[in-house]
Amino acid sequence: MTKIIGKSVTRLDAASKVTGEALYPGDINLPEQAYMKILFAGRPHAIIKKIDLDEAAAVPGVIAIFTAKDVPNNEYGLIMPDQPVLCGPGSNKPYAERVRWVGDQVAIVVADSEPIAAQARDLIRVEYEDLPVVTDMLAAMEADAPLLHPDKGSNVILRYRIRKGDVEAAFKKADVIVEGVYDTPMQEHAYLQPEAGLGYIDEEGRVTVLVGGQWTHEDQEQIAHSLGLPLEQVRVIYPAIGGAFGGREDMSVQIVLALAVWRLAQRGIKRPIKIIWSREESMLAHHKRHPYHIKTRWGATKDGKLLAAEVDLYADAGGYAYTSTKVQGNATLICTGPYEIPNVKVDSASIYTNNMVTGAFRGFGGPQGLFAAEQQMSKLAEKLGIDPIELRRRNLIQEGSILSVGTPLPKGVSMGQVVDKCVERMGALQESGRGKITPKAIKRGWGFACGFKNVGFSFGAPEQCVATIELHGKAEIEKAVLYHAGAEVGQGSHTAFVQFAAETLNLPLEKVELIASDTAVTGNSGSVSASRMTFMAGNAIKGACEMALEKWQREERPAIATYQYRPPRTTPLDPETGKSDPNFAYGYVAEAVEVEVDIETGLVRLVNVICADDVGKAVNPQQVQGQIEGAVVQAAGYALMENMIQRDGRLLTDKLSTYLIPTVLDIPENVESLILEYADPIGPYGARGMGEMPYLPLAPAVTAAVHAATGIWFDEFPLTPERVLRGLGRLD
Ligand code: MOS
Repeated sequence: MTKIIGKSVTRLDAASKVTGEALYPGDINLPEQAYMKILFAGRPHAIIKKIDLDEAAAVPGVIAIFTAKDVPNNEYGLIMPDQPVLCGPGSNKPYAERVRWVGDQVAIVVADSEPIAAQARDLIRVEYEDLPVVTDMLAAMEADAPLLHPDKGSNVILRYRIRKGDVEAAFKKADVIVEGVYDTPMQEHAYLQPEAGLGYIDEEGRVTVLVGGQWTHEDQEQIAHSLGLPLEQVRVIYPAIGGAFGGREDMSVQIVLALAVWRLAQRGIKRPIKIIWSREESMLAHHKRHPYHIKTRWGATKDGKLLAAEVDLYADAGGYAYTSTKVQGNATLICTGPYEIPNVKVDSASIYTNNMVTGAFRGFGGPQGLFAAEQQMSKLAEKLGIDPIELRRRNLIQEGSILSVGTPLPKGVSMGQVVDKCVERMGALQESGRGKITPKAIKRGWGFACGFKNVGFSFGAPEQCVATIELHGKAEIEKAVLYHAGAEVGQGSHTAFVQFAAETLNLPLEKVELIASDTAVTGNSGSVSASRMTFMAGNAIKGACEMALEKWQREERPAIATYQYRPPRTTPLDPETGKSDPNFAYGYVAEAVEVEVDIETGLVRLVNVICADDVGKAVNPQQVQGQIEGAVVQAAGYALMENMIQRDGRLLTDKLSTYLIPTVLDIPENVESLILEYADPIGPYGARGMGEMPYLPLAPAVTAAVHAATGIWFDEFPLTPERVLRGLGRLD
């Protein structure tokens, strides 16, 4: 029995966040600080011929203006370095002369105040030569399409394929075949805190950036790479962070802040520099969720056994890769759902266009791929005349199932149990809601979907996590100090870290002090992404604590131990067949939702959401519930409201008054979190990862419910009133 793991202990940061004592990057100031503003390209595709700084530099109070020629190694990128730090002529990278998206950064202005920096930015004269704008991802794949990165010879960033069995032969044997074409939308992370940061030279002469991110050591590496500095010369610190959801996985202000601080220091000016993006700047200049275009065909026998699935996936990557390849890997794996299908053929591609850049966003391609899979299952059930949950049960993955990529799932598959728990609760709610009287224009319906989400980096990406612990005291341990880089982005990771340490050391929580998220003192933890941090940090902290306890028993004072956790190896997709060991752990999820559709206004309301999640072990049940409810609301925005509109590579919905996200008035009336604990055999105290999975099945559960209510299948979302009315044939 655990004592602290499994308790809803109060979050370490609860009080400071309520009182406002917690400082976010935008709240932190240093004496003598200067301010930075960025000139964004504001056009989707062009060559920069010339940048004239004369007028801007003459504004009193301007300290410096930096352009491409000031960047020592003008490239960066989390997965591949395909992006200039600053676009324009004169750097060591000819490809940097081109802008490929409206949010490309062209120049940075440092001044005594923010208004002065903004004024000077507006006086920079840039001479552009516009290029043809590529906005259709399918057209971008054509042989004669203009290339965004001519050196690469194609707009296709990456293709994956899966070949399992013989789909053509299987389709011939199928009693029913369902074909579908699906379009999933872009989505904005809309975290509470827009990007901000403070750069300075620290007491040891390091270029230091204090910022919100998801992986301190990766930020450090990318800054060092672009500036041509050794790693030790760069330091990254995270204070409080106002949400991330994948949107802080890539660089925003990190490199330009470091660049400006370092270049100024070279001129003998050692002033800290501060930047705060407005909401519009945030929406313009960080990546979004990939829109996917999916064509698919599934075949089954008349008693509901899946025989074959064929899927083509296309992702709009925008101007640069960001994490497109990782998102694509996930989508490729999950586009056939949590089902055992003997014959599978998948082809996927991520494609450069001049649209908004896209990358990591909660679920990492999972929501896109799973939408197609679950929509197909719901339609197959209708065509077969089999209950949609029953059809799923006949095909669900179980212990020992072979995935589409030809290898078994890791042990601890709970998909069936998770579905059962969700269905059981749905039955009870349906019973209690029977006979509810609603106005004639309101149609009600239930929908169901289920899925799984990998925990940790996939497909052979190097995966590890480091923790260090110090035990202080004489006869007994009086204090433990835990060093961990893992980011607290609002999800509660730091509280979980301390719970792991206290549990393993058998200490009360108050005796564990956490020193976090500073590359100068903490080891590399990997990112808070891919639902991995509880699992990875938990194993690392547990390992470090056990080592330190051994030293303590040998009378070492203080007892200090650093432990690097490495999970079982994963492998990349075979280029021909896709054969691979994609992941070392998963979480399993099922959702049932009830909607009300107003057929006169087209408004869809989410009334009930039941979300059953196998989290292995709920380290902090209240935080788990917070993650489930947060994911459901964010996914409800994705499914019903969030409607990003671009035209010719320009973003028309660049503020939260035109891009609508759910407010308290829009969130589902009743969200029930069913927290299930089927231990993961290699998870710390049995824990799996869970931050993303509640997000995944919501959209297809909603479209299934809307179909149950109206008889109409919606293959595109968000289900805005306009789209719903059109679908119902009530709008021309
Ligand atoms: Mo998240 S999409 O795993 O940063």
